[in-house]
Amino acid sequence: MIEARELTKRYGDFTAVDRISFKVKKGEIFGFLGPNGAGKTTTVRMLSTLTSITEGEAYVNGYDVRREKVGVKKSIGVVQDVSNLYDELTVEENLRFLARLYEAPPENVSKLIKDFNLPARKKFGKLSSGYKRRASIVAALIHDPPVIFLDEPTIALDVKSARMVREMIRALNVAGRTIFLTTHNMVEAETLPHRIAIINRGKIVAMGGRSEIRRLLGSETRVRLKVEPLKTSLIHALEEYSPAFEEDALVLKVKDIDAFMDELAEIKGRLGFRIVHLSTELPSIEDVFLELTEEEGEERGCACGGCPI
Ligand SMILES: Nc1ncnc2c1ncn2[C@@H]1O[C@H](COP(=O)(O)OP(=O)(O)O)[C@@H](O)[C@H]1O
Ligand SMILES: [Mg+2]
Repeated sequence: MIEARELTKRYGDFTAVDRISFKVKKGEIFGFLGPNGAGKTTTVRMLSTLTSITEGEAYVNGYDVRREKVGVKKSIGVVQDVSNLYDELTVEENLRFLARLYEAPPENVSKLIKDFNLPARKKFGKLSSGYKRRASIVAALIHDPPVIFLDEPTIALDVKSARMVREMIRALNVAGRTIFLTTHNMVEAETLPHRIAIINRGKIVAMGGRSEIRRLLGSETRVRLKVEPLKTSLIHALEEYSPAFEEDALVLKVKDIDAFMDELAEIKGRLGFRIVHLSTELPSIEDVFLELTEEEGEERGCACGGCPI
């Protein structure tokens, strides 16, 4: 649904996005994680035709982003941090205006207002920040696009509004939309994306499913196991996993969880016991993120132009 091939953006001699390649499948939530200044927004803006591509290629919904801009625009909804809605218009007026602009059926407006429970007659400028974000996301859906780009959708929202927005993103995805989500919020990264790319200083430094990303540090998984009855023969059989007792559970150090599960099944068949509890603790996405990225701005000096300093 989205493909980038060696996608590059340069501002003068500064490379903001450096030959990144990835594919996002239909129906997937793709999490694009990176610290401030990593190149997330620039990537979204290139993929959504809002800024030119310096080098490389990109395709969205089968359209070539460089050559078929209209096709791309019809296929996507973009939610950026700054909303394009008018403060002085009501939510409904804003949506009606956008529906005309995008030549979307007018009935989309009332359907969206109802589906997302928006205060139709309130002026956009008078909404709380949480509802403003909701309305901005809804506005991106006016022409019913199959692909949604969300650039840090929960930034600066309170905990409750952020959760509301996350639930909204999940619902959009369940309804079949492909979602490209940039974030440096770890709650989002741990819960929403099917696959993740971590970008740092314009380069993708890691990519994969959530558990693949967690495994990148090469650390062992801790497996917590409770069985009944617990026999010494089991502890012997699990010797290679350095079994240790923590409270009433056995804690094991496992490198290859799949191989471990196979072996445990085999031992269970041989010794006969009941598994009362089995859980694993992988490093968090945050652990991996912090290991692979560093905050921009410290060394380069901040060039974003938007900083208060
Ligand atoms: N119009 C621009 N001119 C020059 N540099 C820019 C411009 N836009 C972004 N940058 C720089 O490109 C880098 C990536 O920015 P951005 O994509 O906004 O990062 P992110 O969204 O990950 O925080 C930053 O160092 C930023 O300062
Ligand atoms: Mg950004």
